[in-house]
Amino acid sequence: MSKTINVLFLAAEADPFIKVGGLGDVAGALPRELRALSTDELKLDVRLVLPKHPAVKAENLRPVGLFSVARGGSEVGVEAFETSLDGMPVYFIDGDPIRANGSVYSLDAKLDAEKYAFFSIAAIELTRHINFQPDVIHANDWHTALSVYVNLTKRWEAGAKHVAGIVTLHNLPFMGSDMSAIIESYGIKLAQTDLPDWARVLPLPLGMWASDAVVAVSPGYAGEVLTEEFGCGLQEFLSQRRETLSGILNGIDTLSFDPSVDKALGVNFNIETLKLRAENKELLQAKLGLARDPRAPLLGIVSRMDAQKGIDLAISALKTMKNINFQAVILGTGDPKLEESARELQTLFPEKIKAETRFDANLARQIYAGADMILMPSRYEPCGLAQMIAMRYGCPPVVRAVGGLKDTVIQNETGFTFEKAHHLSLAGAVKTAIKRYEDREKWSALQRNGMARDFSWQASAKKYLDLYQSLIK
Ligand code: GLC
Repeated sequence: MSKTINVLFLAAEADPFIKVGGLGDVAGALPRELRALSTDELKLDVRLVLPKHPAVKAENLRPVGLFSVARGGSEVGVEAFETSLDGMPVYFIDGDPIRANGSVYSLDAKLDAEKYAFFSIAAIELTRHINFQPDVIHANDWHTALSVYVNLTKRWEAGAKHVAGIVTLHNLPFMGSDMSAIIESYGIKLAQTDLPDWARVLPLPLGMWASDAVVAVSPGYAGEVLTEEFGCGLQEFLSQRRETLSGILNGIDTLSFDPSVDKALGVNFNIETLKLRAENKELLQAKLGLARDPRAPLLGIVSRMDAQKGIDLAISALKTMKNINFQAVILGTGDPKLEESARELQTLFPEKIKAETRFDANLARQIYAGADMILMPSRYEPCGLAQMIAMRYGCPPVVRAVGGLKDTVIQNETGFTFEKAHHLSLAGAVKTAIKRYEDREKWSALQRNGMARDFSWQASAKKYLDLYQSLIK
């Protein structure tokens, strides 16, 4: 007889409906990859639930629920909609706390706390209205972690069946803000936990505390969160629950990110036709207004402008390279101060460096396909997607050896790594890479090694499936 595992997958964002960062890529891909693992014997009915942010782009939304959740003496209305993505049911939750807050992530912590508390609670309620009994509640980051806590409090109510709770950790430092008053106003008790005092009121720690498993988005990061440097004060708590913590590396969308068919590129190429890649470099140089010099190593950065990503380190490192022949392009938006220093860098080296402080998905692809190397000097990096995309496009990464970067880039084989979060360590690694670049044969071996790696989602999805099965026995 065939068996079914029902999974409710919750996230703040998911491509193609709404995407701000890497979480959106993961939540857009993983649930579908999991469904694709279904066989005659085992069906995976994974369903995605998202907030109906005003900026969500979704077609054919059909109302599937109009209900309310009790809060204080009154009720908060919930409107639920359904659409489908490649056959996967996708639900959107709407209500005043979501409408009150225009953006996916607001600078106002209170607005975000209200929105995501409401969303996490309403999503669990939704399952009754659509007649879907989950075996697993799978939350992502602080925004939805509370759902796992709510799930546990339901289990405390008499007679409720065991539903496994999983929290995937994409970014530990973001734990959400004090939600104690909001949680209690929804009639949910705050438990006596073994969390540090300050963490007992925050949604991410509460969700992890209530979960059956915590998954970091790379094995490297799973190890790092147990240390003082990366554990954000939860290293002891996580160490005590080490057996329930694991790391599963993200994949990338290998259909969309495929240099042999990518429509954003001037010239398509693959591992056999790698020579053609040079034309993309020339096109990129022309587009950016850089000299069309095939010999100048062209360095690329495609990143959120954020201290996490070490953009400041990259800017300082490039400043020390005055006497070296190179070109560079920095693409990304974020922290206005970092955007400004990127533009200042361009003013300092107008011939060499271009700062493109905007969002441009096509230019990002053209950089992966045309730059000679990509720099990722992250202070911490739970997984990182750009290094995997870059390798697939024949663009060796120069990365700090942390988290998922350390797990995916092999020193001297697919790219270059360095240890210290210091601009001179990065500059040293870039210089080593440039030296290697001068030996064209060695360089193309490096490119091919990276292009041959398998970064597809399938392997990761199988690991999540194994985890589900181990938890619902
Ligand atoms: C966060 C992390 C990044 C990871 C992404 C998807 O953005 O900072 O390292 O790749 O989530 O999991």
